[in-house]
Amino acid sequence: MGFQFELIGFPIKHSISPWIHEQFFKRSKLQGTYIKNEIDLEADFAERIMNMKAKEIDGFNITVPYKQKIIPFLDELDVIAQKMGAVNTVVNRNGIWKGYNTDGRGYLRSLESKFSNFGHDKSIRILILGAGGAARGIFCAFTEERFMHIDIANRTMASAEDIAMLATDDTTTKILSLEEAEQSINQYDLIIQTTSVGMKPRTDQSIISLEGLNKPVIVSDIVYQPLKTNFLMQAEAACAQIHFGHTMLLYQAQLAFEIWTGQRVSTENMDEELQLILE
Ligand code: ATR
Repeated sequence: MGFQFELIGFPIKHSISPWIHEQFFKRSKLQGTYIKNEIDLEADFAERIMNMKAKEIDGFNITVPYKQKIIPFLDELDVIAQKMGAVNTVVNRNGIWKGYNTDGRGYLRSLESKFSNFGHDKSIRILILGAGGAARGIFCAFTEERFMHIDIANRTMASAEDIAMLATDDTTTKILSLEEAEQSINQYDLIIQTTSVGMKPRTDQSIISLEGLNKPVIVSDIVYQPLKTNFLMQAEAACAQIHFGHTMLLYQAQLAFEIWTGQRVSTENMDEELQLILE
């Protein structure tokens, strides 16, 4: 019968995850299924989760709006998921359900796959724009990897402060307003846009202007619809190296598949295929 994996959330009709995992099954030669299990009524959540326990499902991804709500149903929590207070991947090991969060680590992997030297120098200066769930995941993964300088800029500075509290002793973090971030943009080596600003249909928007950017830098945007956001276009015009948001999806899924099956499947050529599907 093979592995049984599911995706829980609402709405998930347009999720690309089943396609990605179908490729992973083919590439790994493992047998299994990955199906969408949409839970549209929050009132049904507990019962539906208990049904999954009874079915002895091997693993599942969990997305909005249930990333926190699943935690009381788990037996164990990975350290990053615990720090984040949010889970996106659950594995069933002999009836023990363990929760992970692959958002941040998946994002880091996507950078490492694109920029081969990435991660060697922990003293690079990093700027995270935004302070929502995605920013939190990315911040935790970078601090876990002992990057030394990670600043956070957000419209609501208090939310950025909350994330900064998760820093380990190795990391120094400054909180900035978006205006301050724009003014000090040339202090950074890596700039990561984690908000939904610039997402379809409001594609003309950009969280800050990159007009003042005048040094070689990596600029990354986690928005993937459109693939090339206004923010990335500005970065390209300033001769920055750009990093696309859809690759985060791919590596998050690669990590989840690895947690479930123990196999790290190659993502070769999948980036291009995914771009065609998303375009
Ligand atoms: P996610 O969990 O997907 O990261 P989220 O928690 O809703 O999403 O976070 C959204 C982020 O986008 C926040 O940093 C939010 O800023 P605030 O904390 O000030 O709300 C940011 N954001 C959303 N719309 C924005 C806008 N129009 N201008 C500036 N920041 C915006």
